Amino acid sequence: MIKSLRGMNDILSEDYQRFTHFIDTATEIAKRYGYHFIETPLLEETSLFKRSVGDSSDIVSKEMYQFIDKGDNDVCLRPEGTAGVVRAFVQKKLDKAGGIHRFFYHGPMFRYERPQKGRLREFHQFGVESFGVESVYEDASMIMMVSDILNALGIGYRLQLNSLGCNECMPPYRQNLVNFVKSVEDKVCDDCIRRLDTNSIRVLDCKNPTCQTLYRDAPKLINSLCASCNDDFNKLTEILKENNIEYEIDTNLVRGLDYYSKTAFEFVSDNIGSQSAIAGGGRYDRLVEFLDGKPTPAVGFAMGIERLLELIDMPQTKRDGYYMGALDEEAIDLVVKLTQSKRKTHIVTLDYKAKNLQKHLKAADKADAKFCCVIGSNELNNGTIWIKNLQEKTEEIIKIEDF
Ligand code: HAM
Repeated sequence: MIKSLRGMNDILSEDYQRFTHFIDTATEIAKRYGYHFIETPLLEETSLFKRSVGDSSDIVSKEMYQFIDKGDNDVCLRPEGTAGVVRAFVQKKLDKAGGIHRFFYHGPMFRYERPQKGRLREFHQFGVESFGVESVYEDASMIMMVSDILNALGIGYRLQLNSLGCNECMPPYRQNLVNFVKSVEDKVCDDCIRRLDTNSIRVLDCKNPTCQTLYRDAPKLINSLCASCNDDFNKLTEILKENNIEYEIDTNLVRGLDYYSKTAFEFVSDNIGSQSAIAGGGRYDRLVEFLDGKPTPAVGFAMGIERLLELIDMPQTKRDGYYMGALDEEAIDLVVKLTQSKRKTHIVTLDYKAKNLQKHLKAADKADAKFCCVIGSNELNNGTIWIKNLQEKTEEIIKIEDF
């Protein structure tokens, strides 16, 4: 038997209902915040992700589904959505047009990670990206949007916040951090030593318990921010307080993608196990320029849909539409004909086999139909149809022309 690839799932009806409920809710809220839909290709040039997410990030260095296509192009399945949206933004010359542009998207992303609960190789994100707003009010508004989406779905969360500084305050901080790690070099793990040369700030994200204990004494970027980053971070926390959004400052929150500066945030859930990040994002003011566009401030986030599905409070599904069945062979043609005309306006489930009433009622119940409608030879002779309203538990016989 051919099976789906490891870490790649089929989505069947019950999950699909949760899935569409999530997409519909998030879409409605994103639209209320002034965002418009964008769809970008699943396949992009590999260099797009190398230049944006970063060569030394785990995503690019270990997790990409990368291959050479038939035209000798080095391409890969997108591991995340931001890079493609920025590419589209620049390609469509929206950077040159100026003004504010706000997009939302959803779709599959691919990362060759070790699969476990909440960690897939093909997973789905809902994300938003905003271009052209420098003000930290936009960062706050984005955080409030995630909060609105999670609240609408009945999902509890903790919000973790940090600032990753800017070109002015990050480089001296990075050097301080490297000096600190070098001073405890003999005690830290090999991954951290490797990261010192490639992506030093990510040592703070190390999951090794010894490293985590050692880094409690590491210098904190939040204490080394320049005046402008510091003011922005203080203003952000002030706006969140004003709007009753609770947060924790996590000075080790560095995010796994290289393009961030200033605000970085993650929403985590305590109810889904070790892969607890349900949304993450932040500001990326330099990325448009990195991808050959005109410097444009930008901020965004993405939510991992699979991680949210099991947390969603689904509204009770209501019975809807019709179930049609024949009690005798000779009634099947009429049942099919009536089904076709009813389908112009309603959901209709149809059974092509003649069966007794009990079997049809059972099937109608399973199909969540509101009405079970059957025709047998008696009804054929009388020109009638027997209907049971499964919600109200009432029955009636009506003329076929009135159906
Ligand atoms: P990210 O933190 O890599 O950020 O991913 C966002 C969310 O996608 C995570 O919080 C998690 O819920 C989900 N996720 C990530 N990897 C997996 C996986 N292997 N299996 C299941 N779910 C996963 C980004 O992707 C950025 N593009 C977010 C962003 C948008 N920043 C600015 N704009």
